[in-house]
Amino acid sequence: MVPWRGVIEEYRKFLPVTDQTPIVSLNEGNSPLVSAQRLGKKICPQVHLLLKVEGANPTGSFKDRGMTLAVSKALEKNAHALMCASTGNTSASAAAYGAKAGLAVYVLIPEGKIALGKLAQAMMHGATVIEIEGNFDQALTIVKELCSGGEFELVNSLNPFRLEGQKTAAMEVCDQLGGPPTIHVLPVGNAGNISAYWKGYKEYYTAGQISHLPKMVGFQAEGAAPIVRGHVIEDPQTVATAIRIGNPASWKLALQAVEESGGSIDVVTDEEILVAYTSLAKEEGIFCEPASAASVAGVNKLSEAGLLPEGATVVCTLTGHGLKDPDTAVMSSTKPRRVKATREEVSALLGI
Ligand code: F0G
Repeated sequence: MVPWRGVIEEYRKFLPVTDQTPIVSLNEGNSPLVSAQRLGKKICPQVHLLLKVEGANPTGSFKDRGMTLAVSKALEKNAHALMCASTGNTSASAAAYGAKAGLAVYVLIPEGKIALGKLAQAMMHGATVIEIEGNFDQALTIVKELCSGGEFELVNSLNPFRLEGQKTAAMEVCDQLGGPPTIHVLPVGNAGNISAYWKGYKEYYTAGQISHLPKMVGFQAEGAAPIVRGHVIEDPQTVATAIRIGNPASWKLALQAVEESGGSIDVVTDEEILVAYTSLAKEEGIFCEPASAASVAGVNKLSEAGLLPEGATVVCTLTGHGLKDPDTAVMSSTKPRRVKATREEVSALLGI
């Protein structure tokens, strides 16, 4: 068997690379597509629920699929420095791929609202990390201005190569499943990923690799749901810090994906997100970050509303690894019990 070579090599004919493009890869992609039997039986017994575990990527999120291409293309045009605004995962991925490519990386993050693991990643990979006294949307505005001079290569999803790389996830789902799902559900923040998946599905369809297209369904956090509300949210709030965004860059593309596919976009509450987050860990053995669980919380909501057709195949993308956000994990779980180091004390605690 040929070992996996990363998304650019595996999906080369669908991507804008040539023999001259220097490929910067950490062998991203090929993430598990796992059948969620126990949780599925509980929340949506009428369908087959599968989880695309993107936390299994090299830096622990789906961002790596887009970053491999964005950084390869940056290197191709002799860029020296990368820059992004981020709620955490983009900065972790940019820092890692930038390190691999030998490029300087500058990341702007919202002060105090980025999960600890993600901050640690950006710092460890040697990026220059700038905390701004503001939110993601403000950081992105600054980054766009700074990158317009051409000195820094913008690696947010406004960079078209990011979405090109991320579309490979849709193709991978079809390859793993032997066809497209009926419905694909994703958390929505800056709205790039849902747009990228739709592009991937459409290109696979056009290439004759699949015979029909899935419905694209997105979920935003209730306190950070500009697309659902139809207006910019000035001060977005949610426990799912990855999707704490009030003015998504790919707003129009996401709406297009939903409309063209006959899908929908709705909100889930922080409480619903946290229930799905702990259920995934406790019942499926999958530790994802809170934002990722918005997809499964959404499936629960669709199922309760009777909106999941009998026999459908539903894929949820779990966008990032749970270890990214240890604070929320510890806060959402039972604390360890402390006893003296004797067998008697442990036995007494266990009631045996
Ligand atoms: N899930 C996670 C774990 C994310 O990190 C993000 C976005 C999303 C979902 C939403 O995806 O933005 O394409 O709609 N994180 C970006 C970042 C904004 O900076 O890491 P989207």
